[in-house]
Amino acid sequence: MVQPPSPSERVLPGFGNLHSTEAVAGALPIGRNSPQRVAHGLYAEQFSATAFTAPRNENYRSWLYRMRPTAAHARFQPHQQESLLRSGPFAERAPSPNRLRWNPLPLPGEPVDFVDGLVTYAGNGDVATGVGCGIHLYAANRSMVDRAFFSADGELLIVPQAGSLRLVTEMGVLTVAPLQIALVPRGIRFRVELVDGPVRGYVCENYGSLFRLPDLGPIGSNGLANPRDFEAPVAAFEDVERPCEIVQKFQGRLWTTTLPHSPFDVVAWHGNVAPYRYDLSRFNTINTVSYDHPDPSIFTVLTSPSDTPGTANLDFVIFPPRWMVAEDTFRPPWFHRNVMSEFMALIHGEYDAKAGGFAPGGASLHNCMSGHGPDVASHDKAVAATLAPVRIDGTMAFMFESRYPIAATAWAMDTDLLQDDYDDCWTGFRKAQLPATHGDS
Ligand code: FE2
Repeated sequence: MVQPPSPSERVLPGFGNLHSTEAVAGALPIGRNSPQRVAHGLYAEQFSATAFTAPRNENYRSWLYRMRPTAAHARFQPHQQESLLRSGPFAERAPSPNRLRWNPLPLPGEPVDFVDGLVTYAGNGDVATGVGCGIHLYAANRSMVDRAFFSADGELLIVPQAGSLRLVTEMGVLTVAPLQIALVPRGIRFRVELVDGPVRGYVCENYGSLFRLPDLGPIGSNGLANPRDFEAPVAAFEDVERPCEIVQKFQGRLWTTTLPHSPFDVVAWHGNVAPYRYDLSRFNTINTVSYDHPDPSIFTVLTSPSDTPGTANLDFVIFPPRWMVAEDTFRPPWFHRNVMSEFMALIHGEYDAKAGGFAPGGASLHNCMSGHGPDVASHDKAVAATLAPVRIDGTMAFMFESRYPIAATAWAMDTDLLQDDYDDCWTGFRKAQLPATHGDS
């Protein structure tokens, strides 16, 4: 089917590079994008991820050479099957200022694939004007078969928590395991196959400007996520004449049509928009070597800027294994109120600000200006600790952080997974003991 047989081992390195790849020798035109006759009768098709006139350094497009043009399809119809996918703004519930935390999303009992296993927990902004994001979880136990999905609403940042995904995309195949992430461009069709059993994970659907690597400022020209560690697939295609359902998400709703053939018929492509895989263990973690815990923005992997400099539509931030060496410092994440809103989750291990209740496959939401920070047990342990160098290991938490308050869906507010005792982890803090001469009484 997919050619070559093990394309996931062959990748094109470099985030945003101008890649060139062909699965059949001579399929890629040389010296022009759209020759009068493409080799083998292939169709040239431009895929624009940014406006034609975007500045050159922010202009993303690729040229695809495929067996049939994408335009050849029957009318999309509203998808009849029940889905828990949503796009904000959510009118179902008033956005909550409360700290929210969810237990892990269970794996399905019935056969469910990736698309049917997507459930929206939260979101913000407005999909129609390209602001904000949707935050989904997925739990699935079977591969998509003769079925493909794409979002016309935003690029998809996929964060597997359990089980590996084999992403068969128009531009090639990427296998993504927990502790790796995938970034699938808006509009690119893909199929999710299960490699090693049931899967669970997170998807952030970015309606705003494209994810990019953050500026490094005084850090210099290297560090954090290095661009060469992002991997795009080599071209791979299926020559399959069998009906394939195409499900698309458009303005928050699902639509469907059926092609008489596989949509994965791109034989060659070149350009700078492509799916990417990144291994979070390659993150070059930078932190203090003297005192104080830097702002967690030091752990930013990818950012989607907004129109306001330094104030992201969306940041993807990780909390990776690292050495803690700060002197005279409260080492866990400090107590915090933030104009930005924080949706957090855990891939594996334990998060150093929570002694329990924040489990892999679960999630938490700390909205704009809600007080949060370590629980009592974590606080007391950190205050009592001897500050020798300590390596935090075997853990990977992450955060989707946004300038826009994040609203939970009705499903997420009503589910039994929502913990009703989350506030309790911040009860029982001892009152500070001031000198007896202090104050009026
Ligand atoms: Fe925070």
